[in-house]
Amino acid sequence: IVSFVPQETLYQVLKEESKNLQNTFLMLYAFLASLIGAGAFLFVKAGEEKRKAEIIIKEEKDRAKQYFEVASVISVVLDSKEKVTLINKKGCEVLGCNKEEVIGKDWCENFLPKKTRKNAKTIFKMLIEGHFLKSVEYFESPVLTKEGKERMIAWHNAVIRNESGYIINALISGEDITEKIQLQKEFLRSAQLATIGELAAGVAHEVNNPITGIINYSQIITNESEPGSIQAEMSNRVIKEGRRIATIVKSLLSFSRGQDKKRSPCNVKRILSEVLDLIGSQLLKDGVQLKLEIPDNFPEIHANSNEMQQVFLDIINNALYALNQKYPKTDKNKTLDILGKETTLSGQLFLRINFYDSGTGVAGDILDKLMDPFFSTKPKGEGTGLGLSICSRIIKEHDGDMHIESKEGEFTRVIVDLPTASSRQKTGNRRERKEDRRRRSERSV
Ligand SMILES: Nc1ncnc2c1ncn2[C@@H]1O[C@H](COP(=O)(O)OP(=O)(O)O)[C@@H](O)[C@H]1O
Ligand SMILES: [Mg+2]
Repeated sequence: IVSFVPQETLYQVLKEESKNLQNTFLMLYAFLASLIGAGAFLFVKAGEEKRKAEIIIKEEKDRAKQYFEVASVISVVLDSKEKVTLINKKGCEVLGCNKEEVIGKDWCENFLPKKTRKNAKTIFKMLIEGHFLKSVEYFESPVLTKEGKERMIAWHNAVIRNESGYIINALISGEDITEKIQLQKEFLRSAQLATIGELAAGVAHEVNNPITGIINYSQIITNESEPGSIQAEMSNRVIKEGRRIATIVKSLLSFSRGQDKKRSPCNVKRILSEVLDLIGSQLLKDGVQLKLEIPDNFPEIHANSNEMQQVFLDIINNALYALNQKYPKTDKNKTLDILGKETTLSGQLFLRINFYDSGTGVAGDILDKLMDPFFSTKPKGEGTGLGLSICSRIIKEHDGDMHIESKEGEFTRVIVDLPTASSRQKTGNRRERKEDRRRRSERSV
């Protein structure tokens, strides 16, 4: 082409073509620029979308975390090696630990009682391997708290899977049902007690009649015997013992007679001696040296005598237990002193009854827990932990006050203050009495 076409023309053509080429390049540039622009726009847009999605995911995560935290059930996430990776606030609360003390620890080894570990491990293994049996999803089993106490938990178990569907964690959540179980037991126990009470009332009623007969016939023998003779002495003893039985029966009857809350003027000395009729022989049998010092002219209180009997019986029972723990046999230092005196508190006349026992005493750090419901240091089956909490409620309902002093290994003193019947009438203002009580509790005894 070069040899045939004149150079001039060739030059012209090339010039034209290069112009065209320039235009093409320009167009190409423009196209590329718009592509980059669109790309950049799309990139920015995608970034924005991603950020938005990330914010939504974070919000969801935060919300889930919040639910996890505020849940009223224990929630724990375990990895496949039973190590804790997450625990919520309630979980820490029940265990009595902070998060740092739990996270990363082996769950079964550290937070389950020894006796349940093997079973828990089996359940965990089944769960993490994806065997969802009913017994794996729900079961009741205790945890071990930092204090070494057991709390019964109703567990619901689930698993967490990764994107590919593999199980990576176990989520165990549980409700603390310790109190619920205790209450059920208590309910059963009080139902049993009510039945026993009814039975006792029936028996007491049956015993009452023959015992009156025994006393009356013995009285006839005494009357017909030579005064001072062995026969007279013996029949007098029969009368005395018969009267004792009659008193015990009367106390039993008054215990089991309904739970009416009626109050009337009561004599504390009489109530105490009725209680001692019931428990006195046990005290004697266990070799307790009992001292009862209540003045004869002790003013009356306005109270429900059944409830007061219950209070005194609970306090004495606790003392007897503590004494028997310290002195399993008779001992001259195995003493229970019940002392009554009058005292004026904020211008109002009160009766103060001190129950002092030289038993095991109580450690200082649990002294303020003794009146908490269900607090007991006694072995299972021996204590319900309800005695003192009921006593304190009854005393408070009578506008009185109850507190405990103790030294571990030496003594326990339960102090009951009750307003006298006359002072209660004078001070009608309940709020004022409450204020007095508050002030009194601030003072040392
Ligand atoms: N006189 C006492 N001496 C020593 N400890 C006592 C005495 N009275 C009460 N306690 C302690 O207070 C706890 C709570 O008493 P209580 O409420 O009567 O329940 P429970 O007798 O069923 O244990 C007891 O378990 C015991 O540790
Ligand atoms: Mg008790």
